[in-house]
Order: sequence, then structure tokens, then C-alpha cells
Amino acid sequence: MSKLWGGRFTKQTDRLVEEYTASILFDKELAEEDIEGSLAHVTMLGKCGIVPLEDVEKIKDGLGKVLQRIRQGEMEFTVGDEDIHMNIEKALIDEIGPVGGKLHTGRSRNDQVATDMHLYLRKRVVEIVMLLQQLQEALIGQAKANLDTILPGYTHLQRAQPILLAHHLLAYVSMFERDIGRLEDSYKRIDVLPLGAGALAGTTFPIDRHFVAEQLGFAAVYENSLDAVSDRDFIVEFLANASLIMMHMSRLCEEFVLWSSTEFAFIELDDAFCTGSSIMPQKKNPDVAELVRGKTGRVYGNLFGLLTVLKSLPLAYNKDMQEDKEGMFDTVRTLEGALQLFAPMVSTMKVRKERMRQAVNRDFSNATDIADYLVTKGLPFRQAHEIIGRIVLYCIQKETYLLNLSMAEFREFSDLFDERIYEVLEPEHVVNARNVYGGTARSQVEQALMRAELATAETTNWLTAHAARVER
Ligand code: ARG
Repeated sequence: MSKLWGGRFTKQTDRLVEEYTASILFDKELAEEDIEGSLAHVTMLGKCGIVPLEDVEKIKDGLGKVLQRIRQGEMEFTVGDEDIHMNIEKALIDEIGPVGGKLHTGRSRNDQVATDMHLYLRKRVVEIVMLLQQLQEALIGQAKANLDTILPGYTHLQRAQPILLAHHLLAYVSMFERDIGRLEDSYKRIDVLPLGAGALAGTTFPIDRHFVAEQLGFAAVYENSLDAVSDRDFIVEFLANASLIMMHMSRLCEEFVLWSSTEFAFIELDDAFCTGSSIMPQKKNPDVAELVRGKTGRVYGNLFGLLTVLKSLPLAYNKDMQEDKEGMFDTVRTLEGALQLFAPMVSTMKVRKERMRQAVNRDFSNATDIADYLVTKGLPFRQAHEIIGRIVLYCIQKETYLLNLSMAEFREFSDLFDERIYEVLEPEHVVNARNVYGGTARSQVEQALMRAELATAETTNWLTAHAARVER
């Protein structure tokens, strides 16, 4: 098989070397972006008088045909042509003859591949922001339906203080809001064009990098040609952002798994999002939640893989950098797959309000509130804490709960108690007493819901501005 770069060689490449060094089996995923970049590049070559306009037309035409063949699945990619860039150039030359060889004027695969990756991630980031927003909307929907649902809040996985389920779900909305913010911020660094850096030092041709940037809708061009071809920070950043998103989903998964167990029975996930057991007929397993939790590990792995590849690499391009792709594609697939399933899993889950309520009625999660009550009567908090600790111990020994104690029993521990204590101990009261900004009181949660909806509207604005840019 003759190589496009074969002139300097007197021997064929070893077959195993060919296979080992080729990236076509995975970088064919960049086909669309590669052609997009080439179209802008060749248009610029025409505009700058580097390639005659009639040749430019032939090349654009040929690239269009190659794109069509790829889209129809008719293109045969070969390992002999190493990567997506060479495969497409070869196909172009097959299509329109030697004039196709003018496409690569003033360009290197080093700035070409970097451009492809920028184009690719720019689209994926917009998609992922959209998916995160859908997940937020699903959570907000459940939160609205559960403004009266009280469940125990936990610390150390021990019942701590009662909270509204809406409040709990909105915590995840906040986490995903930060994730959206990080992706939007990272977009600025993805939205920069490397093309024109050549192999590393620039090019001798009078190209116009800003024209190419404008064609492709990039906000800026790389300042330094060496940096342009060596930078993979934007991919590392993406993998880190993806890791955080997966970690957030994984924490929610863990809660779903726990909450759908018979022991908790706080929720029931929809049948469509669970699977059965091949041997135990009674089983309904929360597989999706478990798998998202499990796949979080690979996403972290991809981050560490790339960080390790880049560590100690001298400037500029090194073949090691071809290893930036598989992990990135895998992370995109894993993350998008998880997000797509998550939103409908959240909106279809059934909340077992009565089970949550039962749990709250049979615990001591209102203990802090009696302590606070004694404090309002003038007792130092530390003494109040001690007294309530003894009351809780008394209840445990008697196998009862705080609300069941008689006035006389309360008064044995402190004569500061009066009838109002029964009201203070009611779960609704306990929840609504936490009436601080960001707290679980219903009025606070209603306001938080409104703010969350405003934030998703902001995301819509961002998406509108950026989706248009990516699609042109
Ligand atoms: N397949 C290569 C990669 O993904 C493209 C760049 C190759 N450049 C080179 N000088 N061999 O990194």
C-alpha cells in the first residue's frame, strides 16, 4: 500500500507497525469535523490566492462527495491510510485526481487533528449542557410535586433532621448547575482555532487564520503555534468536568439504590428503568442506577489516562498525543448515555410519601428542635443538648418517641417545658423552623425553586447563543 508520505522511505511499513500506529479505527468518529475543517481551510487558500479558485471548487466538490459516501456508510476506511486525515485525503484524490493533493497546502496533520478535536468537543459540550438542563428540569418537576413530602435528612447515614424531599432534590439541581457553569466556562477555551500553526512553527504561505476562524465560528485563534498543536488542556478539562458530573450522578444513584430497597422503600423506580433476575422471580433491580455508579470509574480513568499521557511530553506534537481520543470518545458516550437515561428515570420514579413520613415519625430527628426550644427559654445550648440527650436515652429504653412523652415526663428533665413543646416537635414545624436562605422551610424551598427555574432559563439563553454558532 503506497503512503501519502512514502517518498522518503525505501521499505514498506511493517504490517504490525501499521496496525499499531493507526488511529483510523477510532478517529473515524472525527470524519465530519475533519471535512468541516478542510472546507474552511481550502476556502481560505482560494481567498488568499494560494490555490486557484477553480481547484478550490473541485476540492470542495470532492470533499462533499467524500462526506456523502461517509454518511451513507460507503467509505472504506483502511489501516494502511493510518488515520482519518489520510483516509479522507486519499479518498479525495481518488475522487478528483491529483488536484486533491493541494488541500494539504499550508497545513499539517498536527494543527488539523487539533482543529478536529476542538470542533468535536464544541458540539459535545453544547449537547451535554442541554442534557444536564433536561435532568435539572426532571428534578425540578419532582421537587414541585414534593413540596409537602418530608423525609429524614441524614448525616453519617444516620437520621439527622427532617427535610423536604424538594429540598433534597434541589441540592442535586445546584450540583448540576455548577457542572453547567464549568462546561460553559470551558467552552471559551475549546472555542479557539489551532489551524494555521502548521506542524509547529507556522507556515510559509500567506494564510489568513482569522478568516478560517470566522468560517468555522471560532471566537479566537491560538496565540502561539507551538501551543496550538501541543495543547490538550481543553480535553483534560472536559474529562475533569465529565468526572464531576458522573460523580454527582453516582451519588444520586446510590441514594436511589438505597431508597428503592425494601428496607427504605422511599421510592419505586419505574419498571422501564429496572431489570429482573434470571433466578429470583421477585427481584426488581435498579440496574441503571447501579451502572451509572459503576461507569463513573471509567470516566475518572480516562481523565487520569490523559493527564498521564501529557505529563513530561516535550513540545510540540508527539505521537503519544494520539492517545487523547479513545478516552474522550468513551467519556462522551458514557456521559451522554447516563444523562439520557437519568432524566426520564427521575421523572418517572414514584415517591412513597407515606413511607418517608412513617420514617420521620419514628425517629429522633426532631431532637435538635427541643434543644433549640430550651435555648429560647434561656438555657445555654450545651446544657440543653445534655438534657435532650438524656431524654432520647430515656425514650430508647422505653421504646418510644419524643412526641409520645407526657408533660410530666418532660418536666422530670426540665421545668422549662410547657405544652408548646408538642407543636415544636411536629415534623412540619421542625422543617418550617429552618427558615433561613437556603434552608429547608417550605417558603425557602419555594423561593429556591423559582431561582432554579431562572437558572435553567439562563441556560436556555446560553444554548441558543452557542448552538447557532456550532451549527453554522
Ligand atoms: N492520528 C494523529 C493523532 O491523532 C494525527 C496527527 C499525526 N501527526 C503526525 N505528525 N504523525 O494524533
